[in-house]
This record gives sequence, C-alpha cells and structure tokens, in this order.
Amino acid sequence: MKVRARTAHYGFDAPGIMIGMLAGGAAGLGLSAAGMIWTDGAVWVSAAILGLVALVPVVLGLSMLVYGRVGKKRMRDYMIGLIDWRGDEQVLDIGAGLGLLLIGAAKKLRARGRATAVDIWRTEDLSGGGLEQLAANVAIEGVEDRVAILTEDARTLSIADGSIDVVLSLFCIHNIEGEAEQKRALLEIVRVLKPGGRVLIGEWMPIARYAEVFAAAGLKIRSQRSHIATALSPMWMVDAEKPVPSRS
Ligand SMILES: C[S@@+](CC[C@H](N)C(=O)[O-])C[C@H]1O[C@@H](n2cnc3c(N)ncnc32)[C@H](O)[C@@H]1O
Repeated sequence: MKVRARTAHYGFDAPGIMIGMLAGGAAGLGLSAAGMIWTDGAVWVSAAILGLVALVPVVLGLSMLVYGRVGKKRMRDYMIGLIDWRGDEQVLDIGAGLGLLLIGAAKKLRARGRATAVDIWRTEDLSGGGLEQLAANVAIEGVEDRVAILTEDARTLSIADGSIDVVLSLFCIHNIEGEAEQKRALLEIVRVLKPGGRVLIGEWMPIARYAEVFAAAGLKIRSQRSHIATALSPMWMVDAEKPVPSRS
C-alpha cells in the first residue's frame, strides 16, 4: 500500500459509494442534457426528470467529498474541544481509520496519557492506506510516544473494564452489520469506560438508538443532536458520561 510521507491525510469515508454517486449522477446528468438538447415532447420531459433525479446522487457525492476534505477536520476539532483535557487521559478511538480523532486527542496528552486506536482496516469504509498510513500519520504529527494501535473488532475489545477516560468514534459503528451487533460494540464502550469517563460518537444518521443503549446501560446522556453545520454534511453526535457511583 502506498504511503504519503509529508503531510497527514485522513481519507474519504465510504470511497466506493462516494465515487459511485458522483459517477452515476454525472452520467445521469449527461444523458439528461443530451436528451434535452436533441429531443422534444415526452422524451424531452423524461430527460428533464432524469436530470432532476440525477442531481440527488451528485449532491450527496459532493457532500461526502466536502466532508472528506473539510468537514471531518471541523468535526474532529469540535469533538476534541468538548473534552476538558488534563493530559493524563487514557483515550480510545473506535474505528480510528487514519487517526483523525486519535491524533487530535494525542496532541492534548502529556507523559502519562495514551491514545489507543482500534480498527479492523476495512478498505471499503475508508480510502487511503489503512494501518500503514495511520502509522505514517502518527509519525508525521509527532505523537508516536502517546499512541498505541490495536487491530481488533469494536465488539470484542481486549481492553480492561473501567480503564478508559475518553472514548471517541466517528463514522464507525454503523459499519457493523445489524442492530444487535452494533449494540455489542456500544456495550463494550460502556464496559471499558471509567466511572466519570466520557464517550462521544459521531455518525452520518440520527443515533437516538445509540443513546437508548447507553441510557439503558446506566450512562448519563449529555446531548444527542445534529451537527450538520459543523461537519458540512449529515452528522449526528451522542455525548454521554459514565456516572461515578455515590459513596453512601
Ligand atoms: C468510515 S471509517 C472512519 C474512520 C475515522 N474514524 C475517520 O473518521 O476518519 C470507519 C472505520 O471503522 C472501521 N471499522 C469498521 N467496522 C469495524 C469494527 N467492527 N471494529 C473496528 N473498526 C471497524 C473501518 O475499518 C474504518 O477504518
């Protein structure tokens, strides 16, 4: 796999879908334009309708492109900015990809803090070099001393119970097929969080279901809402906290 050396890059999410939408939509627009130039009557109307329909994948593909280039870094900055960092936190990035959140968090850590990436490196979920590019990004950003990388599934974490201060995850859990399997990953997050620990999960669709799983497992939901203006594309985030047991 080719690794780019000078600047960190964080890839495009679901690259096949993005390219498919742009290419399919562009083909539809081309056909529509040709039909509207060279025909008339009912065929002209059909070509015009095809043009309108083809706009949908073009707009969605463009929004994925804008998110990949600009929006995901804005969302990273927003999520990292929500934590009141001490510097000694144990951080977990679930579905870390090329390290967008991982590296953002690692930059907030000092000597005793550690940011751990968990991923299974599915090329259909993210463009751009997988594990090798993540390691390159970590080196380029100068955070090797604060980062660990685990190749493991979000549903079966090897991490100890109650050992993590901050769990971050962006555009990962929806890639796990089936609500029951997604719930397994969410409950793993609950398990590894320390009392007082925080979890932030961003997804491209509303995630009330994630919040329900967290609430049922005893987490306090701080917020769950859309962040489309920040991400410049569809984005919802749940922010939850594991309560500290009272001493009485
Ligand atoms: C769309 S990418 C997002 C990567 C990164 N969070 C970002 O925002 O740039 C989703 C990532 O989740 C990973 N992933 C998918 N299913 C997973 C699972 N069951 N366990 C761990 N990682 C998974 C994929 O390999 C991929 O790197």
